[in-house]
Amino acid sequence: MVDFSDTESSTLYENTEDEIEVNIPISLTDPIEAVMKPENLLDKFVEVGGRHYLNDDTLKSLKYYLPSDQKEVKRTYDRHFVDKTVWGGNYSAPVSDSLSLGGASVLDVGCGAGAWIMNMASDYPASIFVGIDIAPLFPEDYPPNMAFLNCNIMDGLPFPDNTFDFVRQAFVIICINWRSWKEKVVKELIRVTKPGGYIEIMDIQREIVNPGIISGKIDAYLEEHFYKAGINRASRAGVIDTFNEFKDEVIVSPIEEKTYYFGKKAGRIGEMTLKSIMEAYTAMKISFTHIMGITEKEFEQMLIDFEKECNEVPLRKERYRAIIQKRSDAYGD
Ligand SMILES: C[S@@+](CC[C@H](N)C(=O)[O-])C[C@H]1O[C@@H](n2cnc3c(N)ncnc32)[C@H](O)[C@@H]1O
Repeated sequence: MVDFSDTESSTLYENTEDEIEVNIPISLTDPIEAVMKPENLLDKFVEVGGRHYLNDDTLKSLKYYLPSDQKEVKRTYDRHFVDKTVWGGNYSAPVSDSLSLGGASVLDVGCGAGAWIMNMASDYPASIFVGIDIAPLFPEDYPPNMAFLNCNIMDGLPFPDNTFDFVRQAFVIICINWRSWKEKVVKELIRVTKPGGYIEIMDIQREIVNPGIISGKIDAYLEEHFYKAGINRASRAGVIDTFNEFKDEVIVSPIEEKTYYFGKKAGRIGEMTLKSIMEAYTAMKISFTHIMGITEKEFEQMLIDFEKECNEVPLRKERYRAIIQKRSDAYGD
């Protein structure tokens, strides 16, 4: 197994060529195999094991296993509520005055089904909000001061230089190859931000800080899987390092962090966090059985044991917000 004990630095993610052998004893098709099948090539979504996955080359190459369907929409809306409660608000950048005064423009990169941006658009009706995502899971009804665009970050952001006062990206790092993040995405985020405007990156610093036996086992497999896909799961320091490479254009603030405890003994928020994790793992059942080389029954038992472990002693994980200001004298590319 790869040693991930020192993943604070982004350098680990330069080489993503490692191949990891897995033994696949089950018959159900993996979502990535399913979208590769010639008969499915023209489908926008592919159904595997009752869940729907976006059939997209970018996500296929990263082996992104979370579904794009209504159950996942519900999970992200619940998770949004947890995040807002834990952080005491929807953002940490000092943008509240400009949002309240009105006329501010906000971009949510990889907005998913729009929980955050819908909430923000309702809170600040005089400002303008745009959400973009590769998966078209946007709601049909939304406030008049906002819009959704279906597009791929890897094709560049479809906006002129210096367009937005506030650019936000949350939980998208696990969908982006780290090399692409460093060489492409960061430049695009800076480019579309107005001079004096803010960028906020919210994400997970790895998964579990104090894993038990079962959670440690799941985490190790996930780690190996993400590493293979070139994804930086311990991205906190890497995100800061990357923006610091553009010091002529941006000012990077100290990172902010929150610890999320989960399990029955960690109160209502702890229970909701565990529920969200359980739902995410369950959604990845087919993929996990492939990755771990176990049967579905074994996987289901593992989840029961995982839940028990979390309920005995609350486990914890960390999320961070990185706040970056584009310099007032910067003009973008
Ligand atoms: C884990 S979800 C987070 C969604 C949302 N930001 C939230 O906090 O709930 C990651 C999102 O990034 C989107 N995504 C992944 N790769 C993308 C790309 N290349 N371009 C645009 N969106 C992408 C996925 O479709 C998914 O909605």
